[in-house]
Amino acid sequence: MRIVTCIAPVNIAVIKYWGKRNEELILPINDSISASLDTNQMCAKTTVMISPDFESDRIWLNGREESIDNKRLQRCIQEIRKRVAVSGGTLSEEICQWKIHICSENNFPTAAGLASSAAGYACLAAALAKLYDFTGNISEIARLGSGSACRSVYGGFVRWYMGSDPTGRDSIAKQIAPETHWPEMRIIVLVVNDSKKKVSSAIGMKRSVETSKLLEYRAKHVPQKVEEMHQAILDKNFSKFAELTMRDSNQMHAVCLDTFPPCFYLNDISCTIIQLINAYNSAFDSIKVAYTNDAGPNTVLYLLEENVPLVLGLIDFFFPPSTISGQLYKKGNPPESITPTKKLLEKIDLQPQPIGSIRNIIYTRIGCGSTQLQNPSEHLLDNNGLPKNIQYL
Ligand code: PMV
Repeated sequence: MRIVTCIAPVNIAVIKYWGKRNEELILPINDSISASLDTNQMCAKTTVMISPDFESDRIWLNGREESIDNKRLQRCIQEIRKRVAVSGGTLSEEICQWKIHICSENNFPTAAGLASSAAGYACLAAALAKLYDFTGNISEIARLGSGSACRSVYGGFVRWYMGSDPTGRDSIAKQIAPETHWPEMRIIVLVVNDSKKKVSSAIGMKRSVETSKLLEYRAKHVPQKVEEMHQAILDKNFSKFAELTMRDSNQMHAVCLDTFPPCFYLNDISCTIIQLINAYNSAFDSIKVAYTNDAGPNTVLYLLEENVPLVLGLIDFFFPPSTISGQLYKKGNPPESITPTKKLLEKIDLQPQPIGSIRNIIYTRIGCGSTQLQNPSEHLLDNNGLPKNIQYL
C-alpha cells in the first residue's frame, strides 16, 4: 500500500475569479491574484491511500463518508492517473489501478465563503501527485477540482494566469512573491455567519456569465487591474494594494447584483464592516485597511501589523462579542486591542451592532503552499484505510 498526507492553505483573492469561459475544464475569463494564508490557523488536511486490499474507492470529508461519484473529484483522480500512465511514471500500471481511500478535514467552516474548496482541492491534488509520483503541474490538476484551488498550491502571493490554450494546459497558477516577501502583512478573517451559503460560487458565476452585462465590462478591464495589483505587491505599496482589493471586491459583488436573478452574498453585517473600514480610512485620510468578500458574508481584512490593535479595538466596539459562545472568540493570538478614542468614534459615526454579530475572528498572516507531512502520526487514515476520526450520525 501507499499513503500520503498533505496540508494546503486557504487563499483569499484580491483580484477575483468570477466567471468561466469553459465550464468543463474550469477556464476563467480573467487572471486573478490571491494571497495564501498561514496553514497554522486555516488549512485543509488530506490523506490519500491506495492498496490492493481496498474493494472500492471511498472518500470521507470532515468525518463523514460522502459519495465518490463527484464529477470534479473524479476528474482530478482520473487526470492524474492518465497523465502518469502516459508519461510512463515510476509506478506499475497495476498499482495505479488499486482502489483509493481519501480522507480530508478542514479546521475552519466549510462552504461559507472561506475558500474551503480551494484548500481542499489543492490539498487533494498535492497529495495525489505525491502518491502517484506525478511530476507535472499540480495547479492544473487542482484547477479541475475548483478553479480558485489552483492558487492554493503555492504560498505567498499567487497569480492564476487564465491562459489561452483550449486544452487548459496554460491556465495555471504561479507565485508572484513568497510568503516572506511582505512580512508586515496581516489578515483578519471576520466570521459573520458560518452556515451554508445559498447559491454556490459555481452556480452564481455561471449565472453571471449568462446574464450580466457588467461582467462583460469587468472582463475587459480586469487585465489592467491585474497588472497594477501584481506591481503593487512587488513594490509593497499598501495603499495601492488595498484600494485595488476593495474596488475589485465591490465590483465582483456588483456583478452578482447585476446577475439575473441576482445573487446576494453580503449581509447587513458584511456591509456594516465595509462601512466601518471606509470610515476608518477616511478618518486617517489614508488607506490603512482593505476589506474583501468572496461568495459569502464573511469579510476578510488585509492590513499592516502596526494597525492591527486599533482595528481590533474598533471591531470590539462596533461588533461586541457574545460572552456565552464558550468558544475561543479570537483565534491566532492577536495583539491586545487598543480602545478607540472618543474623537475617532465621532469621526466614524456608526451604530454599534447587536452582540454576537461577528461569530469569531481569525488573526493570521501570509503563509506557504501545499506541503507533505512526513510523520505517519499525521495520517487521517489508519492501517486498514479507515478514518481515525469518524463522525457517526
Ligand atoms: O473556485 P470556486 O469555484 O470556489 O470560486 C471561488 C471564487 C471566489 O472565491 C468568489 C473568488 C476567488 O477568486 O477566489
